[in-house]
Amino acid sequence: MKSKSSTIFIFFLISVSSPLLEASNNGNRLFKSEENQAPEIKRSDFPPGFLFGAATSAYQVEGAYLEDNKSLSNWDVFCHSAGCSKDGLNGDIADDHYNLFLEDIDAMHSIGLDSYRFSISWSRILPRGRFGEVNPAGIMFYNKIIDNLILKGIEPFVTINHNDLPQELEDRYGSWLNQQMQEDFVYLAEICFKYFGDRVKYWVTINEPNMFIELAYEQGIFPPSRCSEPFGNCIFGNSDIEPLTAMHNMLLAHGKAAKLYHENFQPKQGGLIGLVAHCYMFEPLTDSELDREAAKRAFAFNVGWLLDPAVFGFYPEEMRKYLGSKLPTFSYEEKKFMEKSVDFIGINHYSAIYVKDCTNSSCSATGNCAIQGFVDKAVESDGVLIGERTGLEYLFVVPRGMEEIVNLIKTRYNNKPMFITENGYSSPDLQEQRVSELVNDVKRVEYHTSYLAFLAKSIRDGADVRGYFVWSLLDSYEWLEGYNVRFGLYYVDRKTLIRVPKLSVSWYKNFLKIKVFLWIKMH
Ligand code: NOJ
Repeated sequence: MKSKSSTIFIFFLISVSSPLLEASNNGNRLFKSEENQAPEIKRSDFPPGFLFGAATSAYQVEGAYLEDNKSLSNWDVFCHSAGCSKDGLNGDIADDHYNLFLEDIDAMHSIGLDSYRFSISWSRILPRGRFGEVNPAGIMFYNKIIDNLILKGIEPFVTINHNDLPQELEDRYGSWLNQQMQEDFVYLAEICFKYFGDRVKYWVTINEPNMFIELAYEQGIFPPSRCSEPFGNCIFGNSDIEPLTAMHNMLLAHGKAAKLYHENFQPKQGGLIGLVAHCYMFEPLTDSELDREAAKRAFAFNVGWLLDPAVFGFYPEEMRKYLGSKLPTFSYEEKKFMEKSVDFIGINHYSAIYVKDCTNSSCSATGNCAIQGFVDKAVESDGVLIGERTGLEYLFVVPRGMEEIVNLIKTRYNNKPMFITENGYSSPDLQEQRVSELVNDVKRVEYHTSYLAFLAKSIRDGADVRGYFVWSLLDSYEWLEGYNVRFGLYYVDRKTLIRVPKLSVSWYKNFLKIKVFLWIKMH
């Protein structure tokens, strides 16, 4: 870890002044709360070597769902049988990134991105998991992406698993509910390290296990659609227990893959490996002691649930207290490799949300459940929304949350290196909106400038944050929301798949453009 105290950095910098930047900074006035007021932000507010990028995931952009021997994934099957999203569409074609990736890499290059975060489609490279052969076409596809990124000076930042898995693993043994999945995941990870690790220096094992598990095994709205009352009315499942089992298997899968990387690949390949958490900033609904405790508990039951085991080798104390023997435990040997399993923490942060205590007051049926840590979530306090609405009903614009969550994670995990692996704004879905309006995404520019300003503040206060990825490069398949919720820097026309740069592309370009950047390190 770098020592900050003994080092002084001096920057000589001429940045390009941009009317767009000025417009977006004025835009900060739109945020009502004083605490959300963000000062002007420049690239030079971030440390040298800081990676600025954009992110996507395989199912959301690749399409080509059956091309070149790819097998059916859980999402392919889910979407074909149930009609998975509000707009009745699916990821069969998505953005056809599988065929248009060169154009997309050119777009990244034209913005000036340092890095591209993407995920591997498991069913593309191992159509039958460890029960079949490696698919050479799948390997070739990711090799082409990686090589072309490197040719353009863009660092590949690879997520091994982001929600999708070969359906065969679900059918054979119930995927993440079964310990066998640990072996399958490690097998996948090993293939990735072997084939791509000579060029990939940043690995994420699994994206947002906390969010995925909540949606798949607690609410039952993601495949494999398992849940029980009061969370939902699924045919199969148990929302009190299965999320805990699935998380335990995911964590051990992560830990074993990281161990393999640390022991067998890192010494030669020299990369880093981490885990990505979905991180709301939980704010107490009132200033009462009980709500402040509830906010701490919400963090423990959501973020601590995966990061505590990945950093300390055990589940948070609050979870142990409220879940008792339902909560699985790590053996001595498992603890040993779990506590060393991350070189960095990936933070997906979009929004803050209020939480209220349910141990001592009346709450919703789900708030009264132990698996929720006896907290209820709320989006307004005294009739005032926590922040401006976005295209997703559970995400709000609360820029101060970025500084707060980074500081919280910095303190709890002893300032482990961090990356903001996702941060983004979805335009509200207004059916009658014209392309010209969608492309003029002033709100997205305001969102990023203000969140970045608060991130810079936490870095000035000592947080070891090393990169920031906009979600997303392209408008893409937003899971249950389909294509109407648009997070992209690029607008994607659904019929032609033509990519149109939004105003946010010009903003990012200008933000990243630095003519002279001279760094002198003095001791
Ligand atoms: C986080 C997930 O990783 C990504 O798949 C999703 O599209 C974004 N959040 C926005 O909801």
